[in-house]
Amino acid sequence: MASRVSEKFSGLLDSASVRYRRLEWAASDAVARLNWSRRRMVATGVTIVLALVSFAFLTISYVMFADLVHPLPYVMDTATPPAPATRRLASHAQNETLGFGGIAYLSMPYRSDRQDAMELLASVYGLNFTYIPGVDGATIAEKAKPLHHYWLRAPELGCWRAHVDAWRYLLESDFETLLVLEDDVDFDANVHDVFELLSTQMQHNRIRTTPPTEHERKAAPYGLDWDVLYVGQCSDHSNNDRLDLVHIYEDPNVPSRRDTFSHFVGQLESHGIRGRNVGKMRAIAPSWSPVCTMGYAISRKGAERLILDLSYRGITAAIDIDIIRKLQQGIIRGYTVTPPLFSAWRVDGAKDSDNQGLENDQTALGSGNRRGYSHSLKKSARKEMVKILGLDNWDDVAHVFPERPNPTMTAEQEAEEAEEVRKAEMEKAQIDEAWIKRKQEMAKVMEEWGG
Ligand SMILES: *[C@@H]1O[C@H](CO)[C@@H](O)[C@H](O)[C@H]1NC(C)=O
Ligand SMILES: *[C@@H]1O[C@H](CO)[C@@H](O)[C@H](O)[C@H]1NC(C)=O
Repeated sequence: MASRVSEKFSGLLDSASVRYRRLEWAASDAVARLNWSRRRMVATGVTIVLALVSFAFLTISYVMFADLVHPLPYVMDTATPPAPATRRLASHAQNETLGFGGIAYLSMPYRSDRQDAMELLASVYGLNFTYIPGVDGATIAEKAKPLHHYWLRAPELGCWRAHVDAWRYLLESDFETLLVLEDDVDFDANVHDVFELLSTQMQHNRIRTTPPTEHERKAAPYGLDWDVLYVGQCSDHSNNDRLDLVHIYEDPNVPSRRDTFSHFVGQLESHGIRGRNVGKMRAIAPSWSPVCTMGYAISRKGAERLILDLSYRGITAAIDIDIIRKLQQGIIRGYTVTPPLFSAWRVDGAKDSDNQGLENDQTALGSGNRRGYSHSLKKSARKEMVKILGLDNWDDVAHVFPERPNPTMTAEQEAEEAEEVRKAEMEKAQIDEAWIKRKQEMAKVMEEWGG
């Protein structure tokens, strides 16, 4: 019995070793057919291993050191926190006009849909937008048209008129600055923080030509050394002779490189912001050829100069082109922020534009805001607004839908629900407590800063 088992076992071993031998023969046969010496085989193996190792090394070092490969044009000081005075002034960006004297938006009177949207955004994000009616170019009296107005088509003339009205609104007010928006803008849901950071940077602007005055340091969150401050251009490219003039800063609300419109990536790269710094940094550079007037701030001096040169003395082109000419002629000066802080909300492509005049093909909307989109924003305020207004985001739902007793509930289910309610109440108490503490802290900070 035992011998039969061992016989069978040794038989198995034999056949296994035979199979192994065959494999070995086949392998050495293949090698013989290749006619490779052992040395050559070793050399090939070593070469393959070396190639793999260096490939892995290159990949890892690219991932780890991409930023070092593309150093910024100057060393940024990110360690020192801004001084309390700077922070206090920057915190004005948290107010309803983002630290500007006012915010105006232009909209054709018949675009009540866009006005609804703008007022809705203003309410949700704690902003105060002043409506300035757009103008139909054909209704401007012949006598009131500026010199050389024949360069402009009627819609362009209307657009010019509406912007001049906005500049005039600034002159007629007691504001020092005015942010001018068109009625189709989108912006980041953290808009107040984005502008607070911009204010900190503008106060430390390294490309200013003059030091800030006492008044600017006390009361101008963005300084006042500009006529125009572009924060919503379609594109801009800097003067090729002065690409060194740039102020770079890190902003956690910058859109990723993939979400950033290619023009803006190009503009950043022209200033030496490359690699992984794109998608992380914003750049402030002197305005040179900003296209579009979707979002820009003007100072009082800027409004005076623009009205002088783009109305009083006549015009030479559509308003954005004319502004570019004045910038390049050194008649006005300004800064452009890239990627910009305002982007166009697109609903039905070009059809939604009001620049062609009503007679063209945009008399009706198609899919509307539901399919709308914007680019170059990390967190679209228009998309976020829909979530913010969801009913599940309302802490007072019970007030709207009063609780009704559920007659089919068992005692166990009732106990479970009572427990849920108790937990919710505890959570609410904790939140209230944290909120009171935060308010006390804020009050203390305000006191330190002198109110
Ligand atoms: C917001 O701050 C700016 C800058 O200090 C100021 O001029 C403006 O009046 C403030 N706006 C509001 C609504 O308080
Ligand atoms: C918004 O700003 C305008 C113009 O400065 C002002 O008249 C109005 O009272 C402000 N609205 C609110 C709600 O603060």
